[in-house]
Amino acid sequence: MSYQIAIDGPAGAGKSTIAKEIAKQLDFIYVDTGAMYRAMALYLLRREIPVDDSEQISAASQKADITIAYKNGLQQVLLDGENVTSFLRTEEVGNMASVSSANPDVRKKLVELQRILASRENVVMDGRDIGTCVLPEANVKVYLTASTACRAKRRYDELTAKGEVCDLDVIEADIAKRDHQDMTREHSPLRQAEDAVLLDSSDLTIREVVERILALVKER
Ligand code: DC
Repeated sequence: MSYQIAIDGPAGAGKSTIAKEIAKQLDFIYVDTGAMYRAMALYLLRREIPVDDSEQISAASQKADITIAYKNGLQQVLLDGENVTSFLRTEEVGNMASVSSANPDVRKKLVELQRILASRENVVMDGRDIGTCVLPEANVKVYLTASTACRAKRRYDELTAKGEVCDLDVIEADIAKRDHQDMTREHSPLRQAEDAVLLDSSDLTIREVVERILALVKER
């Protein structure tokens, strides 16, 4: 039986940074499920499927072939055989992913793939519904969050460091909107699993969060 660590939480809480580090330290694979929803969104955008047409989204999503591979330990997402990893982290793809990930047919297809990956190898998997839906029997479940202001500031610093001009208030409003969409959708909304440990990273360093999660792994 594989060992499963599930990390859920809102955008910008530091899930992927933390999950990657834990996977590295434990020699587990890291599965970024958000990237799968983003690859699906890219597929829909490329086919110019209207964001509000759920029937077309349901139908088109079943034709997309999404697979995962690893290069130097880093997850790569293949869409119909093409490595699309470098196209996934744009605002356009993120906004489409936030809408299309609410579609039950999209979720069913990607959850199946996520469960297969987790059954084969020891995993650290991050997303929104890993502890509540994808891996309900995970050995360790963490709900990682941080205040909206803190998450907005992190995103602002990240973009500014890349030389992008941005507005902190706009970023904060965008994060609040995405949280609302993720938490209020009908299918698999973002919420803390009953048996998940709550960690607020607002006043913790990356190292402190990693250490707390590794301590949970040791305890169990
Ligand atoms: O974590 P992210 O920003 O890469 O996720 C992109 C979108 O996909 C986000 O709006 C929420 C959605 N998502 C989801 O519904 N379920 C997951 N397990 C992971 C992401």
